[in-house]
Amino acid sequence: MKSRQKRIWGGRFTEDTDALVQTFGASVDIDKRMALEDIDGSIAHASMLMAQGILTEEELGSIHAGLEAIREDILAGEFAWDVALEDVHMNIEHELTKRIGPLGGKLHTARSRNDQVATDLRLWLRRAGRQIGIELRTVRAALVDLAEAHMGVIMPGYTHLQVAQPILLSHHLMAYCAMFSRDAERLSQTLARMNYSPLGAGALAGTGFSIDRHATAHQLGFEGVILNSMDAVSDRDFVLDFLSFCSITMVHLSRLSEELILWSSQEFGFVTLPDSHTTGSSIMPQKKNPDMCELIRGKTGRVCGSLMALLMTMKGLPLTYNKDMQEDKEGVFDAVDTVQSSLRIYSSMLAGIEVHADRMRAAAGAAFSNATDLADYLARKGLPFREAHDVVGRLVAICLEEGVSLESLPVERMQVVSALIESDVVDCLHLDAVVNARNSFGGTAAIEVERQIELAREELAVEDW
Ligand code: ARG
Repeated sequence: MKSRQKRIWGGRFTEDTDALVQTFGASVDIDKRMALEDIDGSIAHASMLMAQGILTEEELGSIHAGLEAIREDILAGEFAWDVALEDVHMNIEHELTKRIGPLGGKLHTARSRNDQVATDLRLWLRRAGRQIGIELRTVRAALVDLAEAHMGVIMPGYTHLQVAQPILLSHHLMAYCAMFSRDAERLSQTLARMNYSPLGAGALAGTGFSIDRHATAHQLGFEGVILNSMDAVSDRDFVLDFLSFCSITMVHLSRLSEELILWSSQEFGFVTLPDSHTTGSSIMPQKKNPDMCELIRGKTGRVCGSLMALLMTMKGLPLTYNKDMQEDKEGVFDAVDTVQSSLRIYSSMLAGIEVHADRMRAAAGAAFSNATDLADYLARKGLPFREAHDVVGRLVAICLEEGVSLESLPVERMQVVSALIESDVVDCLHLDAVVNARNSFGGTAAIEVERQIELAREELAVEDW
């Protein structure tokens, strides 16, 4: 009997809910994270009802006080959540009625859990999103710091994970900074698009009470209201948008993780990750494993999985609300937690990375990474680039046979292959010259990388979450 009495919608039912059905259908363990947003939404709704003459001032006073008292209990961890009450909305409403009497029931006038839950989730994601924006900025600042601190360090640039051309480590780091800057832009657009109020849409068709949707929207800090009441309660694009942002950001973190895993391996030896962010092995005493990078790379799978899960949940739903949509929260809450922790781990880990410039430079100088420059040298002397490519290819073959580098091959030997080669060729084969020669806009030359650093600093300074 107990649970039937608690069911706010129980009037038309004569039998109890099956125990498994009750737990299977309940979402409170997950959606109680939106409790404070639920209270904010209720206060805005009740204030509007009063302004519209639907509640008296005294009624609003008790509802308001009751909700604030509940908020305090929740914040103090003293609120007793009850699965029998299904979700966060009914838990709070039930408690309010217990505290202030039948008046608590008036709060739900001109409102449905359908517009309520859509409102709560938008408010919750707005707050979480702003927090993530700040954390994303911290990671970008850490990357810029690292790029600035190691300005001038040359490393190999890769394509197909084969040494391609030498680059500045700072150039490589600033490429990640550019990705995270796009993520920040994506997040801010997602939050702007999301910031419209579904409250007042009722179950689906609106309400006959003379409510003021613009007033509640304004009080809750929304930019405006969602026009169509059916769209307001059935739309979960904002969650998909948010999960897309989370997934793409995780993919970026995952790619960076993959690089750091490679770079910190014995074979590369480009960096040493801080002890604070690595772990040992229970059997091999010498091991230092890049666990955090691996875990972030691994967790990217579940964040992208949550995006896929919700896309699949939504794809067949007729308008308007369907219980399927209750599945929207678990994935997005998990994605928020994962992105947030990953970003926090990255900001501290980046600050503790030790760079082995000598190893990077040695690797950059090997494997004929200056071959393109020799071809460019010939092209500048008038040889069509395709022919220059072929000449250098033949020189590389000679070097491979003799086990030497291009720059250590005597000029006279080079001249046998192409008479265009003169003694000034050594200048263009030197590693630093090779890097600084790539001074086209956005290239790897120091002056261009410095521009990127400067622009990133300017962007970070004006960003406001
Ligand atoms: N717990 C529900 C959810 O998260 C709230 C909305 C329930 N509405 C309903 N008509 N059953 O989706």
